[in-house]
Amino acid sequence: MSVRICFVCLGNICRSPTAEAVMRGILEREGLHEHVDIDSAGTGAWHVGEPPDHRARAAGKRRGLRVGGKARKVVREDFERFDLLIAMDRSNQADLHRLAPTDEAKERIYLLRDFDDESPTGSEVPDPYYGGADGFEDVLEICDAACRGLLEYVRERHLR
Ligand code: 4NP
Repeated sequence: MSVRICFVCLGNICRSPTAEAVMRGILEREGLHEHVDIDSAGTGAWHVGEPPDHRARAAGKRRGLRVGGKARKVVREDFERFDLLIAMDRSNQADLHRLAPTDEAKERIYLLRDFDDESPTGSEVPDPYYGGADGFEDVLEICDAACRGLLEYVRERHLR
């Protein structure tokens, strides 16, 4: 593996498993899935061990994506294991900063939408958990746009 990426949200049942599935789809289409290792995790522990939310799975399925895995909480070792830790919102980003064991680890924390040239700096992936099915469609669209930008970043910075 050339580069390792972990997507991080609060519960690890809606946004980060969706981002992971979207990125996996893009990498497979580009034939790069053997060069990029991806995973996801949550900063909270409420849903540890659970599969992704059924609405996230259904939204993914409509686009041919398998939103899978089992929720887990971010651990200290993640800051050693991953080259990029990618937060869905600024609260996740702040939590990661608090958990990061070193300044060097802090430099590997990013906000997903900052990879999307079309969205203003600091844009967030809104939490769809307490809303309707539309929110999950929005998350997919947002992740798709941002993950395309992320792919270009990774190509230039890590895969050359
Ligand atoms: P996620 O969404 O962070 O995108 O997985 C949430 C899932 C569960 C909760 C909050 C957000 N919750 O409070 O249980």
